[in-house]
Amino acid sequence: MSISLPELPYHVDALEPYISAATVGFHYGKHHAGYVARSKQLLAQSELNGLAIEDLIRVAHTRGMTALFNNVAQVWSHSFYWQSLHPEGGGEPHGAIAALIEIDFVSNELFLERLRDAATNFFGSGWVWVVLNKDRLDIMRTSNADNPLVHNQVPLLAIDVWEHAYYLDRQNNRAAYVRGVLDHLINWRFANENLESALKIANTRSASLTGTSSEAPSFTLD
Ligand code: FE2
Repeated sequence: MSISLPELPYHVDALEPYISAATVGFHYGKHHAGYVARSKQLLAQSELNGLAIEDLIRVAHTRGMTALFNNVAQVWSHSFYWQSLHPEGGGEPHGAIAALIEIDFVSNELFLERLRDAATNFFGSGWVWVVLNKDRLDIMRTSNADNPLVHNQVPLLAIDVWEHAYYLDRQNNRAAYVRGVLDHLINWRFANENLESALKIANTRSASLTGTSSEAPSFTLD
């Protein structure tokens, strides 16, 4: 993924009534687009221009380039967030992620309760993520523009808990926004696609380390 503003994966009003067209329009068209514009400005004269966005995030973080890190990480995180939502999402996790939830969180109910609590009660601006931490499913919170990619975590889903994600619709009632997201919008299919990619990479690495074929995965969640 390079530095660009991807198209929204659905129409601007597709997340209503849980997230309004006004919120999506402003969040995408002003905030997300603003991070893209600022990133391009910062990169215009930089030798880093042209790197893949994931590499830019890691390099800017390692070198302490705060402005660049904040903006490119916010570009990546917002692109990931739009895909983490779907008009027909929400409800019970299913597929491979549900199998991991049972191992690491006992039940969907307990996992959703933890995720709801993390997103609702996180102090300040930031993100709540479902991540793969090595082979374990986890819930992670990051402040401001911080991102799981610089903490050796594999993001599976993102929930934006900056006020700009819900203030037009809910004012200070973040709990109502989180309820709408978890009950009606969160995209478990996207989580499963990310999980499948992560497991494929892990199995390929494991196979090349042990010298065995990567044709047959050493572990699956099916
Ligand atoms: Fe945002």
